[in-house]
Amino acid sequence: MSAIPASFRAYVAQKIEDADGVPRVERGVREFAAADLPPGEVEIRVGWSSVNYKDGLATKADGKVARISPLIPGIDLAGEVVASSDASFAVGTPVLAHGYDLGVARHGGYSEYQRVPAGWVVPLAPGLSPRDAMAIGTAGFTAAMSVVALEERGMEPADGPVLVTGASGGVGGTALAILADRGYEVWAATGKPDEQARLRGLGAAGILTRDEVTAAGKPLESERWAGAVDAVGAATLPYVLRTLRTGAAVAASGNASGPKLDTTVFPFILRGVALLGMDSVNQPIDRRRAIWDRLATDLRPRSLGEHVTEVTLESLDEALDGILAGEARGRWIVRVAGRSP
Ligand SMILES: NC(=O)c1ccc[n+]([C@@H]2O[C@H](COP(=O)([O-])OP(=O)(O)OC[C@H]3O[C@@H](n4cnc5c(N)ncnc54)[C@H](OP(=O)(O)O)[C@@H]3O)[C@@H](O)[C@H]2O)c1
Repeated sequence: MSAIPASFRAYVAQKIEDADGVPRVERGVREFAAADLPPGEVEIRVGWSSVNYKDGLATKADGKVARISPLIPGIDLAGEVVASSDASFAVGTPVLAHGYDLGVARHGGYSEYQRVPAGWVVPLAPGLSPRDAMAIGTAGFTAAMSVVALEERGMEPADGPVLVTGASGGVGGTALAILADRGYEVWAATGKPDEQARLRGLGAAGILTRDEVTAAGKPLESERWAGAVDAVGAATLPYVLRTLRTGAAVAASGNASGPKLDTTVFPFILRGVALLGMDSVNQPIDRRRAIWDRLATDLRPRSLGEHVTEVTLESLDEALDGILAGEARGRWIVRVAGRSP
């Protein structure tokens, strides 16, 4: 039996056409009927969600992310189980869910209640609250995945300096913090001069300006980095590839500056450099749960919770627009539970 009330508050994005036939998205908070939620074994009272770049795109007519309309966006959520037909999840268990179709092809986290398949649910490890989980969120999970992938390939602190691009953002900032906490000499590339002090506080040993990592260059330049985390894409990945040391790898997860990749094959065939693709969406659930367990323990950023800006369902618009405009400074988290005053 469902434990979800007949209606509850959710932030909904709906594609419409204006009088001239131009598509646009109408978005805002409204009452949503439980009957309109998709089926799923686990019902969750959502406490927190977060704002990821993809959430911004999901609320834009040309964003190419939303696959249903109306859509409750929010590609991640954390809260408490209120009912479950799967015996693995007792009522009251703190859980999170993200990835797969959530907030894209199926209603997501900007909702007081959500229903999800049991195979998408991650029980929260002791010591990680739902708020902590969303301060990490999909962006932080992707940062952790990137560090794990680089280390599984053999990278270790003694290898030398590691570069993180887009360091003021969600993926970049968390990757920087995790790597610094693990003893790496991390360099942060940022386009925001006023973020440099904060990034040094997170553990950056050195800073590169955006100009340094986006300028055109030779097919191969001096070997500098023992590894890299890049969520920026078009603007920075060419620089990263041509400056990685022989045998080093970059974990690439994003396209915050665009999807094109203008490079040569020389880093790959003359230096054995590796481009490791990061896809957090389709991560198998066992590996997803294992990485979240590590985010509660050895990968937990010491600075967790320090660089978050809280918004509510009512004040989401600004954060969704801000992340698309490259204005991220740490993470925006969404307090979903409880009506705002
Ligand atoms: N593959 C996956 O599973 C996965 C998971 C999560 C996120 N992502 C992707 O990763 C990317 C970052 O996500 P996020 O949530 O971390 O976003 P974010 O918080 O907005 O961070 C992106 C950062 O990139 C930098 N940047 C933005 N526009 C730029 C430009 N034109 N040129 C150079 N740098 C630019 C900015 O950092 P500075 O100002 O410090 O340079 C910005 O803060 C997005 O494309 C997102 O879709 C992918």
